[in-house]
Amino acid sequence: MDLIHRVAELRARLAGEPSVALVPTMGNLHAGHLSLVAEAGRHAGCVVTSIFVNRLQFEPGGDFDRYPRTLEGDCAALDRAGCQVVFAPDEAELYPEPQEIRIVPPESARQLCGDFRPGHFEGVATVVAKLFNIVAPHTAVFGRKDYQQLFVIRALVRQLNYPVAIVGAETVREPDGLALSSRNGYLSSEERTEAVRLNRNLRRIKDLVESGRRDFGALCAFAIKDLTSAGWRVDYVALRNQSGLAPPGPGDRDLVVLGAAWIGKTRLIDNLDIRA
Ligand code: PAF
Repeated sequence: MDLIHRVAELRARLAGEPSVALVPTMGNLHAGHLSLVAEAGRHAGCVVTSIFVNRLQFEPGGDFDRYPRTLEGDCAALDRAGCQVVFAPDEAELYPEPQEIRIVPPESARQLCGDFRPGHFEGVATVVAKLFNIVAPHTAVFGRKDYQQLFVIRALVRQLNYPVAIVGAETVREPDGLALSSRNGYLSSEERTEAVRLNRNLRRIKDLVESGRRDFGALCAFAIKDLTSAGWRVDYVALRNQSGLAPPGPGDRDLVVLGAAWIGKTRLIDNLDIRA
């Protein structure tokens, strides 16, 4: 496996590769990321994993400074997972001058996480566009846990004509249902025990909607109340259609329930597909 820090060196390394799949990450890799690498390997002969903690997508006062940087361990795990190339640029390499040109995400990115993290999806879309231009992958793999991010990236690819196939990979979970996330590492042991409550509430909504309930507002309000009474600070629990990430209309059957909530100083997100 090659560890490359410079754009020019990466381009030279990939020049002769007939097919390249990219897994963009911010590092601090867990089994969820490694499953993205395995998925990428099914789509291309050469898997590139990028590791870059992207300042642009963190809101002021966010966890940019405390976000764990674990390059050595990440590389060892990626090597074992069958990754061919790690691209780990520093900030000066990716942002050699102020990044004034940015991608304006679609309207659908202003709600849900976009509502609570102003500028977040602009930062994500901008760095992903740069990575696509640098790596020129045929396929890029993103986790479905970041559902709205995946939605924005699909729009980015369509609307800016990137010749990149986007693959959304299933969320990997702990045995109790907690979605794997680098931010789980922030949780104290009591918070870790409590953390599954978000998933449990989303699962309850999924089960009820799949068995015929349509009082979406009341279902989400119940979940918000349950989380709040257990000490969480809830950003949102919401049902959306999968096609446009809009509130479900009467004809919508493919839905998704999404939630984001704070337990102590840690913000967790999760979502589940629903077939109504
Ligand atoms: O999902 C992430 O880790 C990041 O948002 C991404 C896609 C690597 C962009 O920085």
